[in-house]
Amino acid sequence: MVPKLQVETPYISRALTFEGEKVRLTDLPELCDHSRFCMRAGGIRNLIKKGDPESIKIAVEEATICPSGRLVLWSKEKGTAYEKEFEKSIVVIHDKQKKCEGPLWVRGGIPIESSDGYEYEIRNRVTLCRCGLSENKPFCDGSHWMTSQEKAAFKKKWGIIKNGRSELPLPDGRGFLLQRRDLPS
Ligand code: SF4
Ligand code: FES
Repeated sequence: MVPKLQVETPYISRALTFEGEKVRLTDLPELCDHSRFCMRAGGIRNLIKKGDPESIKIAVEEATICPSGRLVLWSKEKGTAYEKEFEKSIVVIHDKQKKCEGPLWVRGGIPIESSDGYEYEIRNRVTLCRCGLSENKPFCDGSHWMTSQEKAAFKKKWGIIKNGRSELPLPDGRGFLLQRRDLPS
């Protein structure tokens, strides 16, 4: 029997934070599948900065359908994450604008394990590469439509150097979050 290997460092210990008055966004850029659901109405960070009820409502909608789970929006008052209740399901993301099929969208907390027994963190939203080109397998990194220049620009912006991993120390709690907090929005 294949031995179980350790679950990877949890999302929450590696995510950057972006603070609004009433909500907090946590963000792990290396998970992005570049499906762009977070860019409506000026983008999720602008909506959080605005902070009025309508903007926060749209920000919640955007975060909860971020397929990859890169983005999670939290209520500061309640200390809980906004999450949709997905049935356990797997669908293929179709990107109309880019005219291509994207990753597998795995929803509702389905366990993911590699063929050599590596168990990944169980999450409500995850996107898995199905084109074979991702540099962050098993997760999608947008390679199904992005050019190498576009990928390089994204990695530079967010400090991702290779294999989808950050060059900053992991997962040294506060130090990591504080260092990353002021990165571009
Ligand atoms: S995966 Fe999430 S963060 Fe990345 S573009 Fe899509 S909605 Fe935005
Ligand atoms: S499906 Fe997105 S990188 Fe493979």
